[in-house]
Amino acid sequence: MAILKVARLGHPVLRQVAKPVPPAAISTPEIQRLIDDMIETMHEYDGVGIAAPQVHQSLQLAVIEVASNPRYPQAPHIPLTVLINPDITACVADQHVGWEGCLSVEGLRGQVPRARRLSVRWLDRAGRAVSREVEGFFAVVIQHEVDHLQGKLFLDRMTDLTTLTHLLEYDRYWLRHEDDAD
Ligand code: NI
Repeated sequence: MAILKVARLGHPVLRQVAKPVPPAAISTPEIQRLIDDMIETMHEYDGVGIAAPQVHQSLQLAVIEVASNPRYPQAPHIPLTVLINPDITACVADQHVGWEGCLSVEGLRGQVPRARRLSVRWLDRAGRAVSREVEGFFAVVIQHEVDHLQGKLFLDRMTDLTTLTHLLEYDRYWLRHEDDAD
């Protein structure tokens, strides 16, 4: 396993639409190693998710996990989830605004409106089809990671850039005012 270099805002790979992973390729050592390395990289940088374009691989693949995370101390637990070729259907009428950050947008956080509930289909790392209804923080993280696979960043989804803040200022000026609904 290896910790991978994370692409930062401005790198063109973050703006490409990622290619689907051919289902027959999921079991190959290359893809399995990429998944393991993405999990290790996510843990190393205290991410709650990371998408393959963030490690310079333009593939429809993302990993998500929230155990106890110092970057998101209030976040509910999410088991380790490997999303391959995800497809989401969101209820756009039911949105919630919450704080997001990104390992590719280091040191910044901003408020982003997201659907509260989603229907999601994906392939897991064994190539099995999964279909789930998800809500709350898990739904937010999935939308954030699926955006990466479409070449989008949370900045593109912000409707009010006045909430964009460095982390120190987030702690100092915003944290105490937050409603921790998520
Ligand atoms: Ni991100």
